[in-house]
Amino acid sequence: MSVLREATEDDLEAIRAIYNQAVLETTSTWDHQTRSVADQEAWYAVKAAAGFPLLVAEDAGQVVGYASYGLFRSHAGYAHTMEHSVYVHPDHHRKGLGRALLSALVDQARAHDVHALVGGLSADNAPSLALHAALGFREVARLPEVGRKFDRWLDLVFVELVL
Ligand SMILES: CC(C)(COP(=O)(O)OP(=O)(O)OC[C@H]1O[C@@H](n2cnc3c(N)ncnc32)[C@H](O)[C@@H]1OP(=O)(O)O)[C@@H](O)C(=O)NCCC(=O)NCCS
Repeated sequence: MSVLREATEDDLEAIRAIYNQAVLETTSTWDHQTRSVADQEAWYAVKAAAGFPLLVAEDAGQVVGYASYGLFRSHAGYAHTMEHSVYVHPDHHRKGLGRALLSALVDQARAHDVHALVGGLSADNAPSLALHAALGFREVARLPEVGRKFDRWLDLVFVELVL
């Protein structure tokens, strides 16, 4: 059975493992370096200090996915626009967890007076493009060859949901 809940510090190692798998094996993040324990703690401290939601999904009692958002850009005028991310461990794909996490994050964004949610997706990430389209996100920009990973150029797709 799956459960969605707010994350605590005790979930950071599970979150780090999910993220680092994506760093090493996918283009869903364009990081080249895995996160250290200290990196993960610093990431969490920023979320906690700003009051940004951090949701985790459990499957059979194990944290297998998470979603969060942070400022899209730092200038004051962007204060109501957040950039989000959602990750589910590949062993648990296609069980509805990505949809549940992102839907819950959209609800949290509405409750926190966020006006627009933006996702920056690798154009080769068909599952993420499909998930966002299914939840009403609209493609608003496509930037050719702005990323590089695994020895190839990557296109960035911005998707947006105005709340
Ligand atoms: C994108 C991701 C979060 C989807 O998570 P998931 O739990 O497997 O997705 P769900 O089971 O909730 O699927 C929800 C919808 O997304 C779409 N979808 C998800 N995976 C898909 C796939 N492989 N192919 C086509 N559509 C897909 C479908 O519309 C699906 O609805 P349906 O099951 O009714 O057809 C997951 O693939 C993932 O974590 N990928 C690596 C990290 C990543 O890309 N994150 C997003 C960038 S920030």
